[in-house]
Amino acid sequence: MLFRQLFDKTSSTYTYLLASRMGGEALLVDPVLDQTGRYLKLLEELDLKLVKVIDTHIHADHVSAMGKLRDATRCVTVMGAESPADVVSMHVSDNEKINIEGITLKALHTPGHTSESYSFLMDDRVFTGDTLLIRGTGRCDFQNGDPYEQYHSLFERLLKLPDQTMVFPAHDYKGDTVSTIGEEKMFNPRLKVSSAEEYAEIMNNLNLPNPKMMDVAVPENLKLGLRLDAQHRVPAVEVEELLSSWPDVDGQLIDIREDSERERDGAIPNSMHLPYGQFETYCEATGPLRVLGQNSRLLLYCAVGERSTLAVEIADEHGIKNIAHVPGGFREWEAEGGPVEKID
Ligand SMILES: [Fe+2]
Repeated sequence: MLFRQLFDKTSSTYTYLLASRMGGEALLVDPVLDQTGRYLKLLEELDLKLVKVIDTHIHADHVSAMGKLRDATRCVTVMGAESPADVVSMHVSDNEKINIEGITLKALHTPGHTSESYSFLMDDRVFTGDTLLIRGTGRCDFQNGDPYEQYHSLFERLLKLPDQTMVFPAHDYKGDTVSTIGEEKMFNPRLKVSSAEEYAEIMNNLNLPNPKMMDVAVPENLKLGLRLDAQHRVPAVEVEELLSSWPDVDGQLIDIREDSERERDGAIPNSMHLPYGQFETYCEATGPLRVLGQNSRLLLYCAVGERSTLAVEIADEHGIKNIAHVPGGFREWEAEGGPVEKID
């Protein structure tokens, strides 16, 4: 496995690069905008294809590189379902899996530092964001933070993991790089409490100044997505238009979300499934899109319209022109009351 812990000095942020092999797919956790060039260079050096980028939560101390990395690599942006960010390609809920080639992360909703904070568990290690730090825990005094929720996230979720699980946080201000659950149980002063009330008492009296970047970083990190206007840079068919003639559709609907999203949320009836992860191969000479596109217009949709925008661009570059997407995606379809088929 390839594992890199990258550091941003300005914000003391750790970013993690994961891949199962050189030449394979890669994933980044908590990338920092200012370091984008460095990530892209490292990906190239290791011959990796960035396919997913995850933010553990909306950061207040730095601007995320998620949007810029999506634009540079067409990777899928991922956050927890509770994220208030405008558009993230893919949302995951508690206990859901995030897959790339050879690597699986399990999403753990661990609110408290912020309401949408997630940790991500991978076999022998857990990426704890700002929920559990080395000998510390993330502050709870802004972005809907709540010390009682954090106590629960720590004691009922993270500290229930095996003692030898390695802890990789989103920040360290002292230079520590890794700990374990067992070590934190023994030596983390914030965890030396006997009740949620006692924990809240400590957290409510930290009296910390706001992060320097907060007024810039939070609003920026809430609008990293490809909003509806940007989703119209490629040919589009609106949900309203589809519903006006439903069930007659001028074209073949193609769902490019992943199995887990379809099983969780259902799908538009009569749609084919061709997940975004292999989109380049579908566009090749013998690929399914090439064949399908000869007979009918292709109408792609994803969760919110971000992946489908990128997918239309990929298809266009491969010379497939009879293709459009549904802005707003399945979320918009549901919001407009479109029929939904259950997927097992
Ligand atoms: Fe944070």
